[in-house]
Amino acid sequence: MVDPLFADPALASWYDALSPTDERGDFGFYLPRVMSARSVLDVGCGTGSLLGLAREAGHRGRLLGLDPGAGMLEQARRRPEPDIEWIAGDLESTSWEREFDFVVMTGHAFQALLGDDELRAALAAVRAALTDDGRFGFETRNPLARAWESWTTVAPVDVPAPGGEGSAPLRMTRQVRSVDGDIVFFRTGLTLPGEHAPRHSDSTLRFLGADRLDAFLAEAGLVVEERYGDWERGPLTDVSPEIITVARRTPA
Ligand SMILES: C[S@@+](CC[C@H](N)C(=O)[O-])C[C@H]1O[C@@H](n2cnc3c(N)ncnc32)[C@H](O)[C@@H]1O
Repeated sequence: MVDPLFADPALASWYDALSPTDERGDFGFYLPRVMSARSVLDVGCGTGSLLGLAREAGHRGRLLGLDPGAGMLEQARRRPEPDIEWIAGDLESTSWEREFDFVVMTGHAFQALLGDDELRAALAAVRAALTDDGRFGFETRNPLARAWESWTTVAPVDVPAPGGEGSAPLRMTRQVRSVDGDIVFFRTGLTLPGEHAPRHSDSTLRFLGADRLDAFLAEAGLVVEERYGDWERGPLTDVSPEIITVARRTPA
């Protein structure tokens, strides 16, 4: 089930304000790779910011965003030009054969793949969708850095409205509810301007370690070509915040 944060149009309309593009380190890493690929599949594309930026930067090839969150896709479809394909669903509801030079998952969308079988099916679908020379780029938070330990808010956080000054902010709280092995459960409370009670979104994310991740990739016929621990392309260490991977099909 998709989190209300991504399914509810009212909440999804705040996603870009919660995660502003100019404060993100990941798009600087992925955008050049999107630009140099003829055809791109963005899995868990959310509000479609990365593909929108690519089009605005002059990408002329096929750009396709896939997401199961109705609210997020509603935001993506607000783009005035009909020059990006937006598809509702996930990798298990679709099948492409050697159609994309670059498949990407940003914003830790990869961590929404929870069970081993779900992960295997998703990676098999990614491999099938890649052209022979294609690449799969994605990141997952490094479990050794234990990011969730600082996620619970001590006081509500006010998020400025996308409209800017004069508009009422969104009020956000977050509480990590439990950790079970490499699975973290947390609840986000979002009080919209004009509302008096928060809307809640319960989320579950998997924090897969690098060794297990690489075993799943190898099993799916994908080999790690590049690996970094942060968006400045530093090496992966025990304290790195991210496990950033660029993989390709294992040579036959
Ligand atoms: C944190 S948002 C990231 C959105 C976007 N990629 C970005 O970087 O801004 C995670 C996205 O993953 C999507 N998602 C959730 N489960 C998914 C799944 N099984 N497969 C693909 N996407 C999924 C959500 O709907 C949501 O839009």
